[in-house]
This record gives sequence, structure tokens and C-alpha cells, in this order.
Amino acid sequence: MKVYITRIIPQKAINFLKEKGFAVSSYKKDRPIPRKELKKNVRNADALISLLTDKIDSTVIDEMNNCKIIANYAVGYDNIDVKYANSKNILVTNTPGVLTDSTADLAMSLVLACARRLPEAEKFLHKGKYTHWKPDLLLGVELRNKIFGILGAGRIGSATAIRAHAFGCKIVYFSRTKNFELGKKTGAKKTSLNNLLKNSDFVSVHLPSNSETFHLLDKDKLSLLKNSAILINTARGEIIDEKELINILKKGKIKAAGLDVFENELNINQELLNLKNAVLLPHIGSATVNARTSMAMIAAKNVASVLSGKKPLNAV
Ligand code: DGY
Repeated sequence: MKVYITRIIPQKAINFLKEKGFAVSSYKKDRPIPRKELKKNVRNADALISLLTDKIDSTVIDEMNNCKIIANYAVGYDNIDVKYANSKNILVTNTPGVLTDSTADLAMSLVLACARRLPEAEKFLHKGKYTHWKPDLLLGVELRNKIFGILGAGRIGSATAIRAHAFGCKIVYFSRTKNFELGKKTGAKKTSLNNLLKNSDFVSVHLPSNSETFHLLDKDKLSLLKNSAILINTARGEIIDEKELINILKKGKIKAAGLDVFENELNINQELLNLKNAVLLPHIGSATVNARTSMAMIAAKNVASVLSGKKPLNAV
């Protein structure tokens, strides 16, 4: 049976699939696979391993003649039309759990980078501007006793909350359901979105991207943030109205934003790139050797399971 992978992924997963007897091929170039190439290669594949950069919509799914599973190499699956795939008896799987720590670590890195102005400080030093220590050089804020708002108290949101709690923050969260476990571990309190935005010193986004969360943080919601607020997004760019975020950052209506994800990741808004109070990273939340290898192994195991007639480990 044939497995097609849209990009080179860690070899361990490819070896695993080959040892199971599958014929594995992949797109070899160092860029997202062009749609034409994608459509051609899914035609005879029994399984597809896709990346979050691949839009697997109905036009791609319609090309699939034998495909039984689309195993996304990500925990997010907003790049796939899951309903349509399922209607064609194609299962969709993701990679939950294994990138929780790496992403929560990165969210906290952004919190600290914004709070202590790390990129600005580093540039200052590299430009040779550091000539002497002085009392008011690059002052930032501490985390202890600050209110840390978590949007989405799932795995990654909770892991970030636990880290923020260890830094001395008081945790509030906005979520559909009450997270008793998080409450027990950190004293976190569930609150409404508006209250969270009004009262938090730090707001960290950990929601999935879907029609309900698209531009959840729009002009009105963003206007509720404190002038001193720091907004972090390691989830998906579409959850925040980026143009409005740029406006409030430009006007200094919030202190800073730390972003690992963007509305258009292939062409990041130039205005955002020019802002001094935005710390921007190239979607590296899960970029640790451990997480990326584990993600590949989960995708491969989902494929092997489904192609052997068993249930997938992580159907979405
Ligand atoms: C995911 O898995 O959805 C992350 O955004 C990338 O690892």
C-alpha cells in the first residue's frame, strides 16, 4: 500500500512505515508542495501524511481514489475539510499530546521576551549601544502577582497556565467547560471572555481555529485589553483580527504582542514586521527534536493502524 507524504519528515517515521511494508514516497523540495503536485500524488495513495501548510479541501479530496486516511502532521487540523473527508470515508487524524510541552514552553518564552523586552535588548547590545549600566535601561515588568488569562484550557493552555502559575501569576481562563484539574493545580478560575480580557495582564491564546473562533479577538474584544496588557498567540493567526491588533499596537493601546502564528504565514503583514512592540517568531511552537519526531511517529502509527484495518490512535 502506498503512503504519500507532502514533505520530508523525521526519518524514524519513514523507516517505521517501510518496516511495516508500505511503499513510502514524499515531496522532496524545501517548500510547501504545489497544489498541482499534491493533487497528482494523492490519486493513487492509500494514505496521505499532510502538513499544516497543505490545504486539503474538497478539490484535493476529490482526487483521492484509494485514500483511507489523512494523517495531519500537527495537532491543529484547520487545513483539512474534515467533514468532506469523512463523507468520503476518509479518516482524519492529528498529533495531540506530544507537542504540549514544547508549545507551552514557547508561549512562556514569548511572555518573557515581551515582558523583559528581550529582542529589543539584544538588538541594543548587538548594535554597540550598550556603553554603561544605567537605572532606567530597558525596564520591563515582572510576572509575580500578575493576572494571566488563558483562552482555551485544553492541553497546551493548561500546560502554559501551570508554567505561569510557577512564575507567581494568578490564572483565569476562558473555556467551554470547567477544567477542575487545572483549578486544583493552580487555583485557576473560569471566567467570561470579556472579564478575562478586561482584567488580565497577560493573555495567551490556545484555542483551535474554526468558524467559532475566527477573529474571536476582533476590534471590540481587543479594545477591552488593558493598556499594559501583553497578548500572546501560539495557536492560529486567524483567531485574532491581525489588522486590528496592528492598530492597537501602533497606537500603544496594549504594551506588546508575542506571536508565533499569523493570518497569512506565507506573506506576513509588513506593518507587523515593522512594529517595535511585537515579538514575532516563525511558527516554531512544536519545533523541538523530541516533539517533531514524536509527531511524525504518531502520524505514521495512525497510518499503519488504519491501513491494517484497525482504528486510528487519534481520529479527529
Ligand atoms: C500544530 O501542531 O498544530 C502546530 O501549530 C505546529 O506544530
